[in-house]
Amino acid sequence: MLNYERQNVLKIVQKSKPLKGEIVIPADKSISHRAVMFSSLASGKCRISNFSSGADCWSTLNIFKQLGVGINVIDKKNIEIISDGTLKKSFSPLDAGNSGTTTRLLTGILAGQDFDSVIIGDESLSKRPMKRIIEPLTLMGAKIESQNNHLPLNIYGQKLHGIRYTPQIASAQVKSSILLAGLNAEGQTTVIEPSKSRNHTELMLKYLDGDIKINNNEVTVTPSILTAKNIDIVGDISSAAFFIVAGLIVPGSDIIIKNVGINQTRTGILDVVSRMGGGVEVNNKRILSGEECADIRIQYTDSLKGCTIEGDDIPRLIDELPVIAVLASQAEGETLIKNAEDLRNKESDRIKCLITELKKIGVNIDETPDGFIVQGKTELSPKSDSPLESYHDHRLAMSFYIAGLICQKDIYINDFEWTNISFPEFEQLISEL
Ligand code: S3P
Repeated sequence: MLNYERQNVLKIVQKSKPLKGEIVIPADKSISHRAVMFSSLASGKCRISNFSSGADCWSTLNIFKQLGVGINVIDKKNIEIISDGTLKKSFSPLDAGNSGTTTRLLTGILAGQDFDSVIIGDESLSKRPMKRIIEPLTLMGAKIESQNNHLPLNIYGQKLHGIRYTPQIASAQVKSSILLAGLNAEGQTTVIEPSKSRNHTELMLKYLDGDIKINNNEVTVTPSILTAKNIDIVGDISSAAFFIVAGLIVPGSDIIIKNVGINQTRTGILDVVSRMGGGVEVNNKRILSGEECADIRIQYTDSLKGCTIEGDDIPRLIDELPVIAVLASQAEGETLIKNAEDLRNKESDRIKCLITELKKIGVNIDETPDGFIVQGKTELSPKSDSPLESYHDHRLAMSFYIAGLICQKDIYINDFEWTNISFPEFEQLISEL
């Protein structure tokens, strides 16, 4: 796990030449978490190919080992899981590290077990709100003690019953937590979302023969036995997003990004790029273990236009908003982000931190309660030699790096090693272009 005290990698980013060539984007983080969790709940043997190398997914993997599941790491990207579909009590706390997805989905799984568990996490995760899962799980009969709705969570395994629940926010973590509890509850469990959030849980449960029904924004599970099947994981569009933006804003660039997951609940960034007039092509579409993927070609575009991003768009690009702010700085006119207040509850307050740091390199950006407004197009240059803060937030660190590629002077970024949370290959792939 990353350690606040010991590391403090100061990254220098220099202005880039055109980015040209092909890269293969590493595995989707959301799908990697689910592959380990759901295969552990299935009875039999399965092989996960192209598993994420991000620290968050390894937190999930280590926790399921601790819960007694047979997990063989064949190599960094290939994992074998052998399970009888049951979990065993861990006598030491389960450490979710920096990962909200691990914590929230795991809590749903553990709430209905016949043993007790404790989940802990790092400083950032311990500040993130857990009421959003504690409340519905408690309605299902779960008994969870927390520190004022924060980690550590003490979960006292109980017999659960199904509910019909309408969360206030569109969150795949909340939806998945409830559905996973529902897999082990009496009767049916239904979640009705205000807007559609990413549906990897639904697709993977279906792929593994779970009893799941989907009707627009309403999802229902009935307790069922999952079948162990091999899972091949598509590339992460949230990681591809950094290269999509880099390709659009670094003059002369032309990049092919291969093996990118293009699940409709995740492709908000591609729609925004089209609305802004950016050069994007989606080719060679195919399906891998129930998820659609494709190769994406990105070409530099010097005539980007600002746009409004709001409502149902938001859950489809929530993790991409920091790098979209960088893109918007290179688009003519105003880009307005609304209804994104939940960005304040991510690994950092991504609205406040993003705006504070982007202003330091000349982005014309202003904070609003539920998003931000960017006025473009602006030439970027750091106003001083002091480094940008990444706030131990992987997506902020990488977004600032992409901005650095078009800055007139070198920029410095503090604590850059936090990019390992989701995308350890980030710099290597930049250097391949
Ligand atoms: C995730 C859902 C999103 C996203 C996170 C991963 C998931 O969070 O921001 O990076 O894998 O379910 P919310 O569901 O809280 O919006």
